[in-house]
Parts: sequence; C-alpha cells; structure tokens
Amino acid sequence: NLTGIDLRAEIDRLRKERNAVILAHYYQAPEIQDLADFVGDSLDLSRKAAATDAEVIAFCGVRFMAEVAKILSPEKTVILPDMDAGCSLEDSCPPEEFARFRAAHPDHLALTYINCSAAVKAHSDIIVTSSSAATILSQIPLDQKIIFAPDRHLGGYFARTTGREMLLWEGSCIVHEAFSETELLKLKAQHPGAPVAAHPECPVHILDHADYVGSTRGILDYVLNSDAETFIVATEPHIIHQMEKAAPHKTFIGAPGADGNCNCNMCPYMALNTLEKLYIALRDLEPQIHVDEETRVKAKRSLDRMLEMTG
Ligand code: 13P
Ligand code: SF4
Repeated sequence: NLTGIDLRAEIDRLRKERNAVILAHYYQAPEIQDLADFVGDSLDLSRKAAATDAEVIAFCGVRFMAEVAKILSPEKTVILPDMDAGCSLEDSCPPEEFARFRAAHPDHLALTYINCSAAVKAHSDIIVTSSSAATILSQIPLDQKIIFAPDRHLGGYFARTTGREMLLWEGSCIVHEAFSETELLKLKAQHPGAPVAAHPECPVHILDHADYVGSTRGILDYVLNSDAETFIVATEPHIIHQMEKAAPHKTFIGAPGADGNCNCNMCPYMALNTLEKLYIALRDLEPQIHVDEETRVKAKRSLDRMLEMTG
C-alpha cells in the first residue's frame, strides 16, 4: 500500500541512493517525463544508455528500449517499471520467423527498425531508428539489396523518400495505424494553414498530408523552430507535453482517430509505466532486464553499426 508516500520525493531519494539515471521516452505520462533525467527519441535514449556512468538505468519506455540499454551497457542494472510494456511492432516479428525470412534472402542486407526484440536484432545487420535511417541508407551501396523489418509503413516511407527498393516485413504500430484520414482532413479544414507533423510509423494515407515527417525528437524540433502558431501532431499525443512546456504560446492538436479525437492513439504499452511502478522498481531493483550473452553480443553488433554510421 503506497498511500501516504510522497512518490516524487521517494523516487528522488532512491535515484541518488542507487546512483540511478531515469531515462524516459516522449510517449510517457507527463509526470514521468517531468522527473526524468533525460527525455528523448529512440536514438538519443540509446546513446544516453551507452554513455551514462550511473549504476542503474531506470528505463521509462517500452521493453525493447530497456533491452537496448542492457545490450549497450551490460554491466549496468536496467529496470523497467512494467515488464509487460511491449510493442505491437516487436510482437509482429517473432525471431524464428524473421530468421527464416533472412535465410530466404541470403544476398540481402537486414536493416531492422529498433522496435524489435533483442533476438531479432541479433539476426540483423544494421539497426535503424526514424532519426537515423536516412543517414544509414545513404551509406549503403545502391546495388545492395535490402530487407527491412518489422514496420512496413516506416520501411515504405524510407523506400519512397530514398528511392531504394526494400523487401518489407508486414508489421505495423497499432497506435500510428489508428489515425483517420477523413478526420484528419476535417481537422485541417478547421485549422487552415496549421502544419501537420507526422511520425513515419503512420500509413502513407496520413503521411501524404504531412508537412513534416520525422522521429519524435524531429517532430519536436520542427514545431519549436517553425513560425506557425498551431500544429496538428500525428504521433502518440503524450509528446505534446514537451511541446506545450517549450512553446506555451503555440497550440498543438493531436491528430484524430476514427472517433474524431486523439485518445485512441495513446500507446497502451507505454501507459503501463506509472510513478508507483517506477518507485517500486527503484526500491526493489525489479523488474530487471536480462539478455542472454550470446544474443546480446550479436545484437550489440547491429546496434553498434547504427551508432558508428550516425557519428
Ligand atoms: P522515436 O522516438 O525514435 O521516433 O520512436 C517512436 C516510437 O514509436 C517508439 O516506440
Ligand atoms: Fe510500439 Fe507503437 Fe507503442 Fe511505439 S507507439 S511503443 S511503435 S506500439
């Protein structure tokens, strides 16, 4: 029973006592973002996890992100407030099926989105994130054949924008697939001139209406640097918290789902992490992320390639 406990104060005390760093993704609840030591997109969070000298990494995001922290910093204790915080993209790509797909295309390079399990990373050549994919693709010879997993929308977006043919795995993100083109067009009509900023996990019928496409950090930078006053944001709406903090005079509207509001576009996995669970994880150092050493070493190779190729 946690009633009567000042969670923020206790989290602060434990963070110091344990020499812990709290890393959070932009899709986390505002109260988690506000007490984190660092909030970022998948690439920035990976870099932070690799560079930190803290002994404990409390990862407020989904499991694959915490796994990346453990793969890059195996000597650290990595905790995740809720071990059930998965990802529909990870679920859409079972490692054995991916290994068979890979084996069926031996002359292809396996470029894999970071939203996947450690086992899938271990079967991959290079990991990419939304913010690193374009830079990485530009360094791969044009005659090199590529398979891309697990997000067909993100893969399709980079295939279209770079002109590269890629064999796509059929996975998708349930959150970004839930935006409605009809409702988005209605919203645009209500806010003429408001730029649409979208994440490349959105299907093409949403991206077609976007003025900017990029990672969560890319979207944040775009809205903060633009002269516009009102924006339509087509990604998980918790990122709007950072936008409103940094630019309180601007208006940010979450892109709608079929019901006309953005509540159906909350990530149910990210939402599993709460302040209560973060406190318990720091107190008990559980649940902890473990990755078997053989998988870790192989997965690290494909992650290191991404970090090297993005400087
Ligand atoms: P980025 O933060 O890298 O844009 O990733 C978005 C996402 O869906 C994380 O699950
Ligand atoms: Fe996975 Fe989509 Fe949630 Fe990101 S928003 S963690 S891709 S389900």
